[in-house]
Amino acid sequence: MTEPTLYDQMGGAPAFEQLTRVFYEGVAGDPELRALYPEADLGPAERRLRMFFEQYWGGPKTYGDERGHPRLRMRHAAFAVTPEMRDRWLTHMRAAVDSLNLPPLLHETLWDYCDRAAQSLVNSYDGRSPLETQRDQSAGARVALREASGESVTIGPDAGGRSGLGIAPPPVRSRGTGESAYEES
Ligand code: HEM
Repeated sequence: MTEPTLYDQMGGAPAFEQLTRVFYEGVAGDPELRALYPEADLGPAERRLRMFFEQYWGGPKTYGDERGHPRLRMRHAAFAVTPEMRDRWLTHMRAAVDSLNLPPLLHETLWDYCDRAAQSLVNSYDGRSPLETQRDQSAGARVALREASGESVTIGPDAGGRSGLGIAPPPVRSRGTGESAYEES
């Protein structure tokens, strides 16, 4: 006879359904965390998390069939997972894990994993997601290239802000006044 998986020991499909339902009830009631979730309906996100957890603990592999490799850090790059968001996520996950009333060893195993996984997904200390930061950095690189090519580039007032670097339009050229920033050739 084969060993029961941790998925089986934790209660199988009904347990994982309860885990993610209780967790997402918490998310729905937490406006700060809720704001990170792009979809109006949390149902599909709940299903993705449930499939992931089921697969991770030895249950059905539907997550992989539908979504491929989890690549969790990459999949969270569009969201600013700050320490505050991690703590909110963990608060709701703690309530969900507690709701399962698992035997102590299984409870600790599940909780310890959630805690470590959440820590590993923190990707922002300034409230900007890695994707936003990357966009700003490539805007910065474009400014540097334009400056290197001799162009006059002004950084706008929102530099470093969420919308990236503001680049002023080139100065208006006037003929023959000598006031132009560019010499006509
Ligand atoms: C640390 C705090 C966390 C925050 C703020 C966070 C936030 C989010 C957000 C906003 C999404 C997009 C919802 C969707 O459309 O699916 C998401 C997706 C997801 N998260 Fe998290 N998450 C956190 C931690 C975790 C942890 C610890 C795990 C796993 C142990 C996890 C697993 C997932 C999975 C599997 C998805 C769906 C990925 C896919 O698109 O296939 N998240 N998360």
